[in-house]
Amino acid sequence: MAHAKMRLWHLRVFRNQPCIQMVHGAIIGILLVTAFYAYTYNIYEYLMTTPFSYFRYPLEIDMPAVVNQVLNNGKPSIAPINSLYYPYVLNAESQCKEDGTEENVHVLFVIKSAIDHFERRDIIRKTWAMENIVPGYITKRVFLLGVSKDRDKNLQHRVGLESLRHEDIVQQYFIDSYYNNTVKLMMGFKWAISYCHNAKFLAFLDDDYYVSPHNLVKLLDKVSVSQMQDTIIGHIWKSSMPFRIRGDKWYISLKEYPYRYWPPYPTAGSFFLPMETAERLYIAMQYVKMLRFDDVFVGIAAWKLKVNLVDDHKHISFVRVRYSKEVYRNMIAVHGFDNMLRSYIKFGTSKKKIDECGTATGYDRMTVKFDSD
Ligand SMILES: *[C@@H]1O[C@H](CO)[C@@H](O)[C@H](O)[C@H]1NC(C)=O
Repeated sequence: MAHAKMRLWHLRVFRNQPCIQMVHGAIIGILLVTAFYAYTYNIYEYLMTTPFSYFRYPLEIDMPAVVNQVLNNGKPSIAPINSLYYPYVLNAESQCKEDGTEENVHVLFVIKSAIDHFERRDIIRKTWAMENIVPGYITKRVFLLGVSKDRDKNLQHRVGLESLRHEDIVQQYFIDSYYNNTVKLMMGFKWAISYCHNAKFLAFLDDDYYVSPHNLVKLLDKVSVSQMQDTIIGHIWKSSMPFRIRGDKWYISLKEYPYRYWPPYPTAGSFFLPMETAERLYIAMQYVKMLRFDDVFVGIAAWKLKVNLVDDHKHISFVRVRYSKEVYRNMIAVHGFDNMLRSYIKFGTSKKKIDECGTATGYDRMTVKFDSD
């Protein structure tokens, strides 16, 4: 009997051991996987974020007061922290002038473009940012560029020729790169305020957007400039979280920005504002610590200046919207058109035609015909 018990005990031990090992293995495995994900997705940093109600961001000043001070006597009591004075390489000084006097521009398109995007700029010139494309309104455009990272002389030469031909290139001596987008955006503000001050509205856009200038003008006609005081219209992100995933394009450390949420911000690829607001916002930006994400940077400056952010993401979309005539009839700006020419050709408009005319008719065809995937 004792013998039999012994055996049974033995058996149990021998039978259970692999089982215990398996359990151990599983636990270790789960821990490893958890640790891996916790590390990769940086859960720790997500957990350590500070609630947004504690939001503070340098400089902590009475922004509306400082802005008013600058506007009223030009001499602020506090020195700005990021007046960027990169010299102009190319300056489309005459873009908003006719015989030396400033025109009463209704909308100035201020378009962020990358230095080597020659084709996109060409298409944009012949389509949505074509001069005076909306009958009865004066519209102008400038493209914003930095300089080539590798000081590519050929590239710069081409840009120089392009500028001679179209006089719509604004370029400053900073490296043209994604993380310099905030610099580029500030350059756009600065240029518009200095050289196109009569413009009623500014339309900030990226070169991978589809835009309906007709619908944009219609939208801006609906709101008077006084109603638009200190207002930005765009696709507003109301409570988006900073990325904490290591290695992500949009990663930001807790040290740089400890809060769980960003303040509300407009997608920087397409937003619209009156000149008066642009002027105030540009002053405010010079008192906000630089941040490489231009959208958020605008959001923080707007927050401090108490600018109204008006969302119209139904018609101003960061997300590419599938094409249908009904939907696009009302769209103002849609993101995600990296090759409008291809879309154009695919739907039966020849490149030759685009090159030849760039007429309003050509534009109308385009609003109707481009691919939707
Ligand atoms: C932005 O431009 C400046 C000036 O050319 C340059 O020193 C800096 O490295 C650029 N930043 C990035 C992230 O490319």
